[in-house]
Amino acid sequence: MSKVKTNFVCQQCGAEASKWLGRCPGCGEWNTMVEEVVPKKTESHLASLPASKPKPISTVDTAAMPRLLSGVGEFDRVLGGGIVPGALLLIGGDPGIGKSTLLLQVAAGVAEKYGPVLYTSGEESAAQIKIRAERLEKMSNNLLIFTENNLETIILQALHQKPSLVIIDSIQTMYSPEIPSAPGSVGQVRESTGKLMRFAKESGIPTAIIGHVTKDGNIAGPRLLEHMVDAVLYFEGERSYAFRVLRAIKNRFGSTSESGIFSMEEQGLAEVANPSGLLLAERPQGAPGSVVLAYMEGVRPLLIEIQALVSTTCFGMPRRMAAGFDYNRLILLMAVLEKRVGLMLANQDAYVNAVGGFKIVEPAADLPVALAIASSFRSTTIDPHTVVMGEVGLTGEVRMINRVEARINEAASLGFKRFVIPAGNLSGLKLTKKAGLDITGVASISEAMEAVF
Ligand code: TYD
Ligand code: MG
Repeated sequence: MSKVKTNFVCQQCGAEASKWLGRCPGCGEWNTMVEEVVPKKTESHLASLPASKPKPISTVDTAAMPRLLSGVGEFDRVLGGGIVPGALLLIGGDPGIGKSTLLLQVAAGVAEKYGPVLYTSGEESAAQIKIRAERLEKMSNNLLIFTENNLETIILQALHQKPSLVIIDSIQTMYSPEIPSAPGSVGQVRESTGKLMRFAKESGIPTAIIGHVTKDGNIAGPRLLEHMVDAVLYFEGERSYAFRVLRAIKNRFGSTSESGIFSMEEQGLAEVANPSGLLLAERPQGAPGSVVLAYMEGVRPLLIEIQALVSTTCFGMPRRMAAGFDYNRLILLMAVLEKRVGLMLANQDAYVNAVGGFKIVEPAADLPVALAIASSFRSTTIDPHTVVMGEVGLTGEVRMINRVEARINEAASLGFKRFVIPAGNLSGLKLTKKAGLDITGVASISEAMEAVF
């Protein structure tokens, strides 16, 4: 009998080496190489399926591939108009954020319209899933629950049942018997995803995989799953808030700029009709340090309140803290305020918070954050009907941003009248209803301060 062959696989990036190495040659991480058995080339049952043949692109029939609509409108929209047959989807997110809930709702919606859906769970018992479905009021005999970890069994079962959709919850709990390493390891996750990809492509049954995200924000440690699947959706949010955002990071069948906004309710995830209104509902009127930002979540404008608190420090080193906003960007903006506007912030503690648990990663938030800090520092309020947007450069200049019209329209529909926008955006502004709006273009942060204080 031949000896079992092993090699060493990096658990971070999946790079392989024939001998143990302290440092991975692929990603440069230390102590990540783990020994794994090289799987023998076995003939899987999939090999018996008819092999696909190349064909001229003009003869490819797309009309026969209508997308499945899950009925969870925001989910369908993020995918670009529903689930494409044969697609392999990856839905990632922190544990407990609501991935299983979302996919159960999607499964129930698809089951109702298109027939049986196979919901495989390696995490929860059938009873637990039933309790959840009851809570969501999504009971259907077309929803087939399968508690199994062995991927071969799952695929065989799926080939037999021919469901309209397969859901795998989660990829970290699944294993292929040929690989000796534990479920959740890079080798297993990669092998399992590869098998599911072949299954989805060859059977035409769309398959959705749930993946937990590690501390550094990657699905299953490495990003190696992302290139294997057709679409990668991230489900994000702050657990203590009800808001959840579904974003497409990659989408072979649609744009990646769409995002879906949900709120986690007692009866599962609900679509939010007016997120801006909800986000601003508890805003204090006329409090120093509060500024409203028009933020683009993909192609969707959202109004978010930025709050800042600046107070004299009691320590040698002033504290700076940012929640929902980049810390380094906060430090930079404070330096710009100090140097270009002359605010004496060196001995001030500063705290900045984007209300609602959203993570703001857009340059347009620079100016509102800077003005919120200035407002708190001077204890002067900014008119609560003002919306601010603009990127701030190191010389204190205010730079142009995109989609100003969409942002202004969203704010105007909620009754905002005053707008402080980058001067560069002013000339090209095409607004249908300009009447009654007071729009000021500012070229520098000091001009912006003159405009609001
Ligand atoms: P879950 O879908 O299990 O998260 P994941 O699969 O991403 O780990 O959802 C977990 C949380 O959602 C849980 O803490 C309870 C909450 N929840 C609700 O608030 N309402 C509901 O109707 C359901 C089903 C869950
Ligand atoms: Mg779950």
